[in-house]
Amino acid sequence: MKIHRLFSSGRILAGAFVGVAAAAFVPALTMLATPRSQTSPPQGFPRTAHAEVDGLALTPPMGWYPWNMFGEEPQNETLIREIADALVASGMKDAGYAYVGPDEGICFSRGADGKLTTNLERYPSGLKGLGDFIHAKGLKYALYTDAGTKTCSGAMPGTKDYEFEDMKAFADWRADYIKIDWCNSTGQVIADTYSILAKAQRAAGRPIVHSLCSWGDGYPWLWAGAIGHMWRTTADICAPGKADWARAMRIAFANEKLHGFAGPGRWNDPDMMIVGMPGLTEAQNRSLFSLWCMMASPLMAGNDLRAMDKSTVDILTNLEAIAVDQDPLGVQGRVVWNDGNVSLWAGKPLADGSQAVLVLYQGKSRAEKKIYWEELGLRASDELYVRDLWSHETSGPHAGGFTASVGPDDVAFLRLSKKSEFPIPPIIVADTYLVSLRAASSRPEVLKGTVAVTNKGGADLPPWRVDPESLPPWLAVAVEGRGKVRSFVNTVSTAGLKKGRYHALVRADNVDPVSGKPLSALYYDVDLEVARNVRR
Ligand code: GLA
Repeated sequence: MKIHRLFSSGRILAGAFVGVAAAAFVPALTMLATPRSQTSPPQGFPRTAHAEVDGLALTPPMGWYPWNMFGEEPQNETLIREIADALVASGMKDAGYAYVGPDEGICFSRGADGKLTTNLERYPSGLKGLGDFIHAKGLKYALYTDAGTKTCSGAMPGTKDYEFEDMKAFADWRADYIKIDWCNSTGQVIADTYSILAKAQRAAGRPIVHSLCSWGDGYPWLWAGAIGHMWRTTADICAPGKADWARAMRIAFANEKLHGFAGPGRWNDPDMMIVGMPGLTEAQNRSLFSLWCMMASPLMAGNDLRAMDKSTVDILTNLEAIAVDQDPLGVQGRVVWNDGNVSLWAGKPLADGSQAVLVLYQGKSRAEKKIYWEELGLRASDELYVRDLWSHETSGPHAGGFTASVGPDDVAFLRLSKKSEFPIPPIIVADTYLVSLRAASSRPEVLKGTVAVTNKGGADLPPWRVDPESLPPWLAVAVEGRGKVRSFVNTVSTAGLKKGRYHALVRADNVDPVSGKPLSALYYDVDLEVARNVRR
């Protein structure tokens, strides 16, 4: 039924040929300025991303979403909790995966008062309770909705006409990421609709990663960077539970065409990954993961994390590949040469001066591809070290070029540098994103709670700063530590507080030590329960 719905809605077609006249809709905002088949940035393309304001998703978001493996039926609180546990136990959290939560998992309905309420049969702790569980594990909370009248299955209400109320509900549930689908939106103007949702989200006061999901409809790459953080460029990568290698490759090549639109805080999203789903070979898993990293795509795993073999874990947690995806320059790699079987992907400079290169082989036997330095814009005489990001071996220096030997559906994923070192950029992992404190006495108390953040990448962390002006009077935050670990020590003074519950969302900015410019922001929640009125 689901597959029928996808095909009959025309979404597969519209998304599969990104930028070709098949995408029927041009948003009002861009109608005058841009031709219909726009696959490279027009002159005057706004480079400013919404992320510059909130500091979120300055590198591609990483996490897990249930749709590819599970569809809507088996989604419930137990599944999401088990997956969150598996995300930690498998080492994926330590590799940078953070966002996790239900997709179209029949999570909520709309009451007679217009407000969203949790479907308690499926999510007995409530959507807020599930979020607290996720935050207490040092993970971030992802939720799903739709910009139309209903979600795609029709089983959940969409945000149309309830944009401000619903964004407030997602903020109250403490979502950190929201995927917003585009089903049941007939007659709505796409850019205007998503702009209203972004405004509503800002009004709700909780910065949230906005993941637009119109499958390429309305050319979101032209306008969505100013209002959200990432946008789907294509139709669904698979029907639930049915990984489809050929379709995934079509999606990769369609997404590739949009490389000029990606950058820090504004990412092309070729959909959640199918790595580790039944039906794919190890080579295909490796290739898909490498392509997603090469395209600086969001890395949302879509497999069953509770039942992964070692090879899947090794692929999903390969920090050397992830380093390419998470490189702070945020450049999306592209195809520079393609003979139909072998494609050479390059154009991805990395922050340390090295560059990533990928050879994908889609033929039947084995292929050798000589990569000439000149094809990559380098001098033939350059002497370069070549790091194989899967065998983790460095060779060279090589002059003129390098020959990669690649098996069917496999890749050579390489990093080239004049230096023999290949540093890993910051991979931020927190021990929790929630500090919960309780004051029992009517005498003033001082309570402390800590959030520790570790860089699993190569270098020391740059300094973090919390603006004291942004905190409520009862809370002070000190950032302690050096090297790869920082602790945010939260000190609460209860003097004069009335009985009740208090909440603060703390924003810490990671600042460039030289320019003082904020690099990325980290948010966590502080909850305080005061059991009695407290004297001064
Ligand atoms: C659309 C999206 C999918 C998934 C489903 C849920 O098809 O593209 O990723 O969220 O809706 O119905």
